[in-house]
Amino acid sequence: MHIMKIKRVVALIALLSITGLVGFGYANHQPSTESIAFAQKTSDLMLNELLAALFQEFNETTPDNVEHGKQAISLIFNDANRDMRLIGTTGPLLGGANSYPSDPFEQRATNRAMKGENITSVERVDGRWYYRRSIALSNTFHQACVQCHTNFTPQFFQQTNNPGQWVGALTLRVPINTEN
Ligand code: HEC
Repeated sequence: MHIMKIKRVVALIALLSITGLVGFGYANHQPSTESIAFAQKTSDLMLNELLAALFQEFNETTPDNVEHGKQAISLIFNDANRDMRLIGTTGPLLGGANSYPSDPFEQRATNRAMKGENITSVERVDGRWYYRRSIALSNTFHQACVQCHTNFTPQFFQQTNNPGQWVGALTLRVPINTEN
């Protein structure tokens, strides 16, 4: 009787620690160096793809198609897509309220972008691990910027003491595999 009881307690503890470990492993398990490197490489490719798409549009922008170009960019940067975003703080924002930084990473990204700096982070968002990065954007990158962003004027950058003409950031995030 006594031994049975001990066995049962041991079995219970074993069961609890297994479920505990599994739960712990799923939620808190730090991603491996390999998984982070994989996500980083994916992010490099994704960045090239996005820059190609954006600069294609900038190159095609003429006074006649500004509104069409704006709509095209808005559709690519659909509000529901949190994996790639254009963010800024200097209104009027073409993306509206959705273009404001929406979490601590994006807040940091915009602050640093205004100094022309890019950042990266490996962090969890809603329980899932991500490789996140931001790329600072300047009005000097293309002469077409001001056609859509009519507030990007020389006076504006002078008044805000922003000789680099930094205006915000492009952000990307890639989920990191934590299964292995
Ligand atoms: C063809 C029009 C067009 C051109 C040219 C353009 N943009 Fe934009 N930009 C947009 C649109 C539309 C959005 C909002 C996208 C969205 O819905 O999230 C946007 C968003 C942004 C944002 C986020 C803040 C905001 O206003 O929503 C930044 C920063 C930005 N663009 C910088 C630039 C820079 C720098 C250039 C030039 C290198 C540039 N843009 C050229 C249309 C344009």
